[in-house]
Amino acid sequence: MQIDVILGLQWGDEGKGKIVDYLADQYDIVARFQGGPNAGHTLKFDGKKFVLHTVPSGIFRPKLLNLIGNGVVLDPVVFRRELQFLEQSGVDFQRRLLLSRKAHLILPTHRWLDAASEAHKGSAKIGSTLKGIGPTYMDKTGRNGLRLGDVELPSFREQYETLKNKHLELLKMYPAVPFDLQMEEQTWFDSLNVLRSLPFVDSEYYVDDALSNGKSILAEGAQGAMLDIDFGTYPFVTSSNTITAGVCTGLGVAPQRVGRVIGITKAYCTRVGGGPFPTELDNEIGEKLRSEGQEFGATTGRARRCGWIDLPQLRYTILLTGTTEICMTKIDVLNSFATIAAATHYRYGGAEHRTLPFDLSRIEIEPVLKNYAGWNCSLDTARSFDDLPAEAKTYLNELESYLGVPIRMISTGPEREKLIVR
Ligand code: GDP
Ligand code: IMO
Ligand code: MG
Repeated sequence: MQIDVILGLQWGDEGKGKIVDYLADQYDIVARFQGGPNAGHTLKFDGKKFVLHTVPSGIFRPKLLNLIGNGVVLDPVVFRRELQFLEQSGVDFQRRLLLSRKAHLILPTHRWLDAASEAHKGSAKIGSTLKGIGPTYMDKTGRNGLRLGDVELPSFREQYETLKNKHLELLKMYPAVPFDLQMEEQTWFDSLNVLRSLPFVDSEYYVDDALSNGKSILAEGAQGAMLDIDFGTYPFVTSSNTITAGVCTGLGVAPQRVGRVIGITKAYCTRVGGGPFPTELDNEIGEKLRSEGQEFGATTGRARRCGWIDLPQLRYTILLTGTTEICMTKIDVLNSFATIAAATHYRYGGAEHRTLPFDLSRIEIEPVLKNYAGWNCSLDTARSFDDLPAEAKTYLNELESYLGVPIRMISTGPEREKLIVR
């Protein structure tokens, strides 16, 4: 069997949680491969809403196994909170949620460092979610990190103290930010005990066995390809590889085992935090997208920046991720727009381009927009592509031919059942 992938093609919050939850039914295992509690994945079904940060979005499907891979960074405190919430919602996760021993742990001092480092950057700050993501991945690549499997070793407390003390030294370089280490540490160790009650696995062997035994796996991306550490709008990115390559390193699977790659894009575009955003609309249209789309962060509650869909940007991330099919979400948000636009080119350096320059952060870019007529009606009753209004079909068909990849799924609302599959 092969491993299929769902990931975001923009700057995150494309609706990955909803689509994973919808498709999870067709798989045996859902696995997270990168990121951590900076993610906020929203699911809506049976009149209820759930937001997941670390737990894979397959957890509500009773028969499914959910794996947190080695590429993920895990904060025991956030994780325990999620588990408590699942418990209260009557979800039985005890034997269905597996953790990779090689996943790195977010320490309280990683969060402290994240806050101090952002404060130090002042107006140049990334707009991090302040969950400790950057400092934890820094310790991973710097070969200082603590992994989940270390918890099982007698030397764990000593390893913890060594890393914490290193962080306390580093913190002296930064401006003071309020942080109650003693209290945070207490909560962290208490939470770690809850985590120990779940099965730890060697995910590389686990995934290989599962695939070899005919089990199907869906890998759930966090963030979006434009936040990728290598190819995103650096330095305004997250600290992991959010593209398909991240599945291989974040779960321990070889590239030839990757099957479908489902790239998700909104029918428009959003970004939260700092950094370049060529099609951003800092006007009443952007405001309308924000209010119609309820564009407020699922993790931090921050208002998301909004703009038109950006086709050069999508061509770039389709190329990077090897997207085999597109899922377009939130098309219903455009229901009441008389005119809709899409950027087809970028104007920079005196010419028009369909490719992105080296550094979007340091170059003046003007998006070249093409207008489309809106449909001015609800899509609530549309169950198939043919049910969509003619204007919506034109918009989707033109985007599809520009991007060169089929738009196989169209999401018309936040609820699980509001999805058109072609
Ligand atoms: P994720 O991080 O990619 O999982 O996305 P988020 O959950 O952060 O943000 C997506 C938001 O859009 C959530 O509030 C979803 O409930 C909502 N959503 C998902 N699909 C649709 C859709 O097709 N239409 C509308 N109106 N909302 C959607
Ligand atoms: P999901 O999985 C949107 C953004 C932050 C910030 C930058 C770095 O819900 O799509 P970090 O905390 O990683 O150091 O922040 O990345 N960011 C996200 N934006 N959706 C996310 O996740 C994000 N995770 C991080 O806003 O600009
Ligand atoms: Mg999100």
